[in-house]
Amino acid sequence: MSRPKPVVAIDGPAGAGKSTVAKGVARALGYTLVDTGSLYRAVALVARTRGVAFDDRGAVERAAHDAVNTGALRLGRAEHNTTRVLVDGEDPGDRIRTPDMAMGASAVSAYAGVRDALLDAQRAFGADGAVVLEGRDIGTVVFPDAEVKVFLTASDEVRARRRYEEFVAKGVAATYEATLDEVRQRDAQDASRAVAPLRMADDAVLVDSSALAPDAVIARIAALVKAREAATSPA
Ligand code: DC
Repeated sequence: MSRPKPVVAIDGPAGAGKSTVAKGVARALGYTLVDTGSLYRAVALVARTRGVAFDDRGAVERAAHDAVNTGALRLGRAEHNTTRVLVDGEDPGDRIRTPDMAMGASAVSAYAGVRDALLDAQRAFGADGAVVLEGRDIGTVVFPDAEVKVFLTASDEVRARRRYEEFVAKGVAATYEATLDEVRQRDAQDASRAVAPLRMADDAVLVDSSALAPDAVIARIAALVKAREAATSPA
């Protein structure tokens, strides 16, 4: 059954520009935006604040389930058609945007129990369509029936440069070389894990943003969505 307004899945590796592009597409279309990476980052933060080591799989999985079941970790609606992850009732803001939390999120996202705990929250926001979800497995696992699927990528160097510039802008201590290492390490980890590895869905459109400005990528994806809306609307 087709939704009148599509679910738009934007997957791809770290630093491909998913956040900027997903935000732009959601804004251009008036769709709700869901940044699913923030959920994995929030699990890493929960683990850290509860004194659970990232490599203690059983304890991380229990902490994730408990946090979701008690509402200590949840996804809420925010201003301008966006959503926010809330940890212990608060927006963790930049506390989940550090290199440490990025590596932690990559580690905990490899655990089936963690992915499982976060699945319903993601599906609940997307079920009625008119939503843009960005992540790693949206088109393959969370919404295999998404009407529009994009796999957004860019070269390692371009992705590391963008990440590094974000860190500098936020005053986070980092070097370009360390950021490039981190990007490569995370990609290898995200693509080689047993559960829901990063991979392009067979029916996704591949977009390489290495040499494209964000606005060009946004316009291209928005056009794909509009074409889909037109195809499903009653004549
Ligand atoms: O997009 P991001 O950098 O905020 O994601 C943080 C980590 O979470 C990333 O290393 C992989 C993981 N992730 C995932 O496994 N599945 C998703 N749908 C989104 C993110």
